[in-house]
Amino acid sequence: RTVYVNGEYLPENEARVSVFDRGFLMADGVYEVTSVLDGKLVDFDGHAVRLDRSLSELSMRAPVTRDELLQIHRELVARNDLTDGLVYLQITRGAPADRDFAFPDPDEVPPTIVLFTQSKPGLADAPAAKTGIKVISIDDIRWGRRDIKTVQLLYPSMGKMMAKAKGCDDAWMVEDGYVTEGTSNNAYIVKDGRIVTRPKSNDILHGITRAAVLRYAAEAQMEVDERPFTLEEAKAADEAFVTSASTFVMPVVEIDGTPVGTGAPGPVAARLREIYLEESR
Ligand code: PDD
Repeated sequence: RTVYVNGEYLPENEARVSVFDRGFLMADGVYEVTSVLDGKLVDFDGHAVRLDRSLSELSMRAPVTRDELLQIHRELVARNDLTDGLVYLQITRGAPADRDFAFPDPDEVPPTIVLFTQSKPGLADAPAAKTGIKVISIDDIRWGRRDIKTVQLLYPSMGKMMAKAKGCDDAWMVEDGYVTEGTSNNAYIVKDGRIVTRPKSNDILHGITRAAVLRYAAEAQMEVDERPFTLEEAKAADEAFVTSASTFVMPVVEIDGTPVGTGAPGPVAARLREIYLEESR
């Protein structure tokens, strides 16, 4: 696989990042995941806009322009013959001479930028989309700036492992009784034909797939309520689903062992998935 590191395209086993990189030592960095369908990037602009916001919230500078970033994405897709999969992008605050809690001067320490591809043949036809996934609920004990897409992913990883230990696929995080989001996706329920999802705030990541899905739902005259919903409401809902760049729209059929609706993927999630994939190709 060819990867991109700080201006160079290299075979993955020749790519190098310093042991002093703050991404490695302090999770001081941000990332984006852009899906690729039929060799085409899905919603690159949305991801680029969110990346800029994450960087500016952390007083970091983009080491490349948006046009250069697009070229790098395209170049990696081409060099790796990627048909279906994703492009991972990470920008960390770089490698100062010594470990220090204070941020280094950006004029002296440039950020580190890394991109690589992951091939996922048949990404759009994931079998889980037909069966749905099972989630458990866990306390949301993450920090208060979940709107910034940082590489601090330890708790979401632990949540995923807690789910697997219970024979489930993922975890929904709950704060004060209300669902915030999934470990790596935004959460939705459907009740009496209305789609309910938590509004944008610092409590959740502002999903790029979420924005697109809500736009398509409005265009299709579907009713959407952007409001927090409780775990109890979710268990009593007609349908539940999640969205992310890597899963698109994915039905949730069980929460903490309770079947959602009929216990099978519902029509609203199926329709939104179909529209999303159609619009993204
Ligand atoms: N995760 N919420 C969280 C906590 C996420 O990590 C993600 C994305 C989302 C959905 O955002 P988007 O629709 O822009 O992908 C919501 C990516 C896919 C990941 O970490 O792999």
